[in-house]
Amino acid sequence: MTVITAETVARADGVLIIAKGDVVTPLARDLANERGIRIEIGSASDIPPVPRPAFTPAPMAGRTTPVAPQSQSARSPMALSFAARVEAPRQLGAVSGALYRRGAPVPAHMWPDPGASQRNSSRGGVGSDPRPKVAVVGAGHVGATTALRLVETSLFSKCTMIDIVPGLAEGLALDMWHSAGLRGFTTRVEGSDSLDALRGADYIVMTAGRPRKPGMSRTDLTGVNAEIVGAVADKIRIVAPDAVVVVVTNPLEEMTELMARRSGLPDSRVLGMAGVLDTARFCSLVALTGIAAPGAVKALALGSHGPEMVIPLSLATANGQPIEGQLPPPELKAIVERARDSGAEVVSLLKTGSAYFSPAESAASMVRAMASGDDTVIAACVKSGGAFGTLNTRLGLPVRLGRQGVREIVNLPMRPDEVSALIRSSESIAGRIAELP
Ligand code: LAC
Repeated sequence: MTVITAETVARADGVLIIAKGDVVTPLARDLANERGIRIEIGSASDIPPVPRPAFTPAPMAGRTTPVAPQSQSARSPMALSFAARVEAPRQLGAVSGALYRRGAPVPAHMWPDPGASQRNSSRGGVGSDPRPKVAVVGAGHVGATTALRLVETSLFSKCTMIDIVPGLAEGLALDMWHSAGLRGFTTRVEGSDSLDALRGADYIVMTAGRPRKPGMSRTDLTGVNAEIVGAVADKIRIVAPDAVVVVVTNPLEEMTELMARRSGLPDSRVLGMAGVLDTARFCSLVALTGIAAPGAVKALALGSHGPEMVIPLSLATANGQPIEGQLPPPELKAIVERARDSGAEVVSLLKTGSAYFSPAESAASMVRAMASGDDTVIAACVKSGGAFGTLNTRLGLPVRLGRQGVREIVNLPMRPDEVSALIRSSESIAGRIAELP
């Protein structure tokens, strides 16, 4: 049995004789209809051998973009799969309507890969694009959703997803890029299974790592995730020393510390994502009481992304008014506790995997803030420098971000009991960090 593809149809003249049992792809049928080529079943002796033209790189009809020949050994799996697509449009000759259907070859100038971007730089591709580049390590649910939230803003020239599973990041990137035709975004998106693709990134979101299982604490992940974060940090040190890194991998404070140590990046360029998420969870849970819409609740979740989370209620407002006057203390206390345990609540419902919509939006919002120069005060895990009397460790604190990472820790007025809780939080975190290998 032979699969009759559009390529075969394109080489046929008038009648294409196939054998009984051969499969004709829908694309091939479309092309045959379009070109008035009859497909008939004949005996084996009627079927001419299919000519296999030698590969000679040449532009598509009407295009001048050259296709760089590559040695086999220099090609990544992604390059190889795209190389296979190079031949089809050339053999098909004039662009057919069938080319725009499912499974059709992608014209070279539309490939969402870095090589194509460079080849297209003279046509306004990424090479001439002044917008920053972002990379997301890990193409699981958190990573892929983060990438989607980033590309849809068009704030970046390019978003690179990287995952160790061959084809996963490339496939998701291609799928995501297809949605550009609907959403209209202009950020090129590409995927790779190599950390070398981090080269030149201005912002990196580190999501790779194991998620929790029901009953696990985030700290239970330290050993396995330290290896992953360490390896990525070592690569960043070499290929992206100017990047700002947002760490999402748990346990958050320990992994943020490890990323800073192993990457060698300054503390201002290594941030942990958790305060934005914990704050959002608190605001959304407050909104469930009906006193305000989620966006009209303002608060900051500080301390750790875990049991020592501190949500200073003296700073929280709903519709611009102090929240403490709007909800009874036991209800507020219950909301704080639920926000603190929200990650585990989602894990226990999902059974496998952990939350991703809200963590992804949180990480993306931090990168968007930096790329767009939004300096609203947010909560992020940073090196405290002893602020508020805390130990100098990785801690969730109120900060302003800038294009180059943390611009400043903001000294907000908190009550003494809230400051004490923050100091205790820093002590616990420092103890855990001291146990890092
Ligand atoms: C959570 C993960 C991101 O809290 O820690 O869902």
